[in-house]
Amino acid sequence: MSSEVRRAAQILRAGGLVAFPTETVYGLGADASSEKAVARLYAVKRRPADHPVIVHFASADDAFAWASEVPDAARTLAKQFWPGPLTLILKRSSKAKDFVTGGQPSVGLRVPSHPVARELLKAFGGAVAAPSANRFGQVSPTTAAHVREDLGKDADLVLEGGPSEVGIESTIVDLSGGSAVLLRPGAITRREIDAIVRVTGEQSAVRHSGGLERHYAPRTPARMVPAHALDREIAKGKSVAVLAFSRPDERVDFWLRMPREPRTYAQKLYAALRELDSAGCEQILVEAPPEAPEWAAVRDRLKRACEQG
Ligand code: TXA
Ligand code: MG
Repeated sequence: MSSEVRRAAQILRAGGLVAFPTETVYGLGADASSEKAVARLYAVKRRPADHPVIVHFASADDAFAWASEVPDAARTLAKQFWPGPLTLILKRSSKAKDFVTGGQPSVGLRVPSHPVARELLKAFGGAVAAPSANRFGQVSPTTAAHVREDLGKDADLVLEGGPSEVGIESTIVDLSGGSAVLLRPGAITRREIDAIVRVTGEQSAVRHSGGLERHYAPRTPARMVPAHALDREIAKGKSVAVLAFSRPDERVDFWLRMPREPRTYAQKLYAALRELDSAGCEQILVEAPPEAPEWAAVRDRLKRACEQG
């Protein structure tokens, strides 16, 4: 184990905040059993206190100790997808206090697969509460540099782990109410979940930050337009930064070309949105991705990043 990770575990034990890489996005971690540490986490994130946070563990056994009931479907999903980009919402045990669940009777559990996250969780030995390591309402960080830009000195340590492999936040499945509800689409698709437990809905009854409109938003106004309308929008002559599948248009100064494969697209998405945002244009134009199910997670994040209508 690296000395950096050992130091990170010590910081967590002392109630500090450690930003660390996961396979989805970078997280900002605090000791999930310490009210003081979690309070500081919320303050730094500028996150409302009633928004629950996901708790991270080194193993499924550790995670399930935070649940009062573990349905068979949860065990099967964990076996299949943990460690990995899946969060399970289960009825909470007495370990999960109000200050991590936002007062809800359920708790979000995740066992990440990134080697640095795993090392940290093992070295710390306990549960780590970790939202994405950005300020509330901004695009999630997928590199350590993004974290430093967003949080500056507010994280006591930022662990380096390269660019996040998945690039968008974990799939969230709520099993706390007897059926399976998809609260947030991610790299693990609805179809993959459905093969194990029938997904009965995609709505969230509870308040969760990913469910707020324009949550993953750049500062520059962004619009999503179908491919055939892209040309018409550009012709209006505004200064635009474009995210598209097609080749650059010479009238546009800032153009990022995206891959036609959804996983690679997701991997690059947040870094691309940050780049487009810093281009200093009046507007961001995003070419809409296909309607096919494998694009669901990317479409979800783009919809939130863009103005509706
Ligand atoms: O990939 C990820 O999940 C990343 C990495 C760092 O693990 N974390 C992440 O956390 O995206 P955050 O806080 O940005 O988003 C967590 C989402 C929120 O929408 C939150 O409301 C929801 O999970 N959530 C957590 N606990 C919940 C609960 N008990 N019931 C419903 N939603 C919950
Ligand atoms: Mg977030």
